[in-house]
Amino acid sequence: MSLKSQKFSSHEIVDYDVKPTDQKILEMIEDYFSSQADEYDQFDENLEKRKRYNGKIDQLVREKLKSNQAKTLLSIACGTGKREIDIQNALATKVEIHGLDLNPVMCKLANERGIECQRGTVLSLDLTEASYDAIAYLHAFGHVPSRQQRSQEIEKIYNLLTPGGVFCVDLMNLDDENEWGPNIKKLYEEKKWSEKGLELGDIFYKRVDLQKTSFFHYFSESEIVQLLTNSGFESIHVQYVGYAINAGQEVKKDKGAMFVTAIKTDKV
Ligand SMILES: C[S@@+](CC[C@H](N)C(=O)[O-])C[C@H]1O[C@@H](n2cnc3c(N)ncnc32)[C@H](O)[C@@H]1O
Repeated sequence: MSLKSQKFSSHEIVDYDVKPTDQKILEMIEDYFSSQADEYDQFDENLEKRKRYNGKIDQLVREKLKSNQAKTLLSIACGTGKREIDIQNALATKVEIHGLDLNPVMCKLANERGIECQRGTVLSLDLTEASYDAIAYLHAFGHVPSRQQRSQEIEKIYNLLTPGGVFCVDLMNLDDENEWGPNIKKLYEEKKWSEKGLELGDIFYKRVDLQKTSFFHYFSESEIVQLLTNSGFESIHVQYVGYAINAGQEVKKDKGAMFVTAIKTDKV
């Protein structure tokens, strides 16, 4: 299984002989977040760059909710639900927010906060009705284990939106010079990760203080645009927000994470 690891300051990269299955990766991620759910909000709060970055993304989500006059929001991978409560409190008009999260501890915390949260993924839950004016996927779409599952999730998200509904997602950027992206590209080539079944942008890592492995996928702009277009989304807009450096500021495309919005156009 885990062969060698390479240090990346607070995290270390984990190298597998063969990419674990989608199911195994989901179990890994669930376990990773179980071990930090109780301290998750504090971790976010204490890390200045994360606080600034999340604050900016939340503001952009609120602006979209307002301009789209959304009355219902589904927050996928809502974690503890703290950001959803912050978003709701800062809005003048009430938006009904539902959540879902893979992790049972996260889900319990979100429910205790007053966000009606179901445990599961978009794919595992029996959600069929096009009943949300907006869907957000904050700091988590990269956890989806494979291109196939990402594509299936986006398709389902499209179907859950009301016509004219908006999807908001933030993603780690493979081309962000200030973050891991360029190193991931290098490792992918050097370590021949494609032969192990990894996709360009995939990374397995451990927090050095927490011996649990997680998975994240870094995106290129063309990749996310293609994914959304394939499912029928239109009016796709990508903007860049500093993450590691100039956190929370709007930056050029090779200097930050991506915030993407896309519309389910009303075709009647
Ligand atoms: C980095 S945290 C982000 C939580 C929250 N959105 C925030 O920004 O504070 C990632 C969350 O995504 C959840 N998660 C990971 N993969 C998921 C998936 N495929 N479907 C639903 N939840 C998922 C994890 O359990 C965890 O709560």
